[in-house]
Order: sequence, then structure tokens, then C-alpha cells
Amino acid sequence: MLLVGHCQTAPVIHEFGSGDGMPMIEAVLGACFQGMIHGYEINDVSWNLANTRIRYQQIEDRYMVHHVSFFDACNKPYTSTLVTNPPYLPAWTDSRLYIKGLYGGIDGSMISRKLLSLEYSTVLLMVSSFSNPAGLLQYASEQGYSVVDFLIRPLIFGRYSSQPEVKSRIVELHQEQKAFFSEHYYLLAGVVFQKQNHADKELSDDLMAVIQSLR
Ligand SMILES: C[S@@+](CC[C@H](N)C(=O)[O-])C[C@H]1O[C@@H](n2cnc3c(N)ncnc32)[C@H](O)[C@@H]1O
Repeated sequence: MLLVGHCQTAPVIHEFGSGDGMPMIEAVLGACFQGMIHGYEINDVSWNLANTRIRYQQIEDRYMVHHVSFFDACNKPYTSTLVTNPPYLPAWTDSRLYIKGLYGGIDGSMISRKLLSLEYSTVLLMVSSFSNPAGLLQYASEQGYSVVDFLIRPLIFGRYSSQPEVKSRIVELHQEQKAFFSEHYYLLAGVVFQKQNHADKELSDDLMAVIQSLR
């Protein structure tokens, strides 16, 4: 729903990391976007589940998940819009992570930065409050993006974000003012970035003010 009003003219949307497909299936069933969504997912189990659910809902003509790394998919149809809840777990290394596909580099923003360097004109990106959000917003600005909309919700630390290798890194990032969280919660923001020549506002200071409110 966040994208409504920002990408209604795009006939195709790309999705990095579809997981089990549920968030996008719900969006397809509930929203008014009439185009085609091409998702990319490397995890076998998630990819299978996503396509089983897509078939069950009979929306194959609206949403398709490809079993290939987003970065290796050379024949993607052209589009201007990318949607993603990317891997954002920070840790010094991915070697001990329960699921390596959730690794976001040493500050959690590595994949997000890579995706913001691809020249999509609109990107809906989930931004975590413990993954160097200020650094990521600064990077987005350097790539020519403005924040034009956002929605934030608190999430409870779960199994993967509580893993010792991840949690200790989050605490280190907090000491450097690069992670914001409370005892039980962190924040996950759905952020719409638009290339500055299309954007009519810049909300990154407002977004950071909300993210920093959690201490
Ligand atoms: C944070 S999960 C999001 C899953 C789902 N979209 C959701 O919101 O529940 C990130 C997903 O990205 C996938 N992923 C990681 N690297 C990928 C890559 N290079 N290409 C495609 N998917 C990737 C992971 O396997 C994981 O399912």
C-alpha cells in the first residue's frame, strides 16, 4: 500500500528476496496494482512455498518468483521499481549465522546499499533501526534518492536477531550511534525512495527522528 501513488504506472515490479511470498501475495490480493511482479529468491524451501501459494491463489499472471540470485538474473524485464525486505542482520561474519541468506554485512546495510546503487527510480526498502539507518540514508542521498514516504512498526527481537553473534554486533553498533532499539523492540520502516528528479519531498530527517526515538 505504501507504493500506491508512487508507482501506479509501472507495468512490472521487481522484488529482491521474496521469502515465502506471503507479504507480496497479500499485497497482490489486496492492492490495486494491476501489473506483474517478478520476485527473486535463493532459498529453496522459501521459493517452493512461495510458488505453491501463488498457484493456490491463482495469481500466476500477477506474481512469479524465480529461483535465482537477484544479482545473477541477467534477463530481468526492464522496470523502474524495486520492492525489498532485504537481509539486514549485522555480524562480523556470516559463518555462524542460522541462515546465511539473512546476512547484511558488518553493519547490516550492505545488501540495501547494493540495491540502492542499481538506478531504479523508485525503491520500497525495509530499513531496520539496528542496521546503521543514518549511514544508509546518507548513502541513498549520495545515490540521488529522496525519502518520499515511510511507515514504521516495532518488531520484537526474534530468533535470528537475538542470535549472540548478531546481538553483540547490534550492541556495538548502538555504542557508535548506528543502532536504535529498546530492551525488547527494534523498528522496521518501509521506506519509499525516489530519485530526486522525480521526488517532491525529502523526509529522511523525519524518518531518522522517529527511528532515534527508540532508546
Ligand atoms: C529478510 S528476508 C525477507 C523475506 C520476505 N520478503 C519477507 O518480507 O518476509 C530476505 C530474503 O532475501 C533472500 N535473499 C538473500 N540474498 C538473495 C539474493 N542474492 N537473491 C535473491 N534473494 C536473496 C533470503 O533468502 C531471504 O528470504
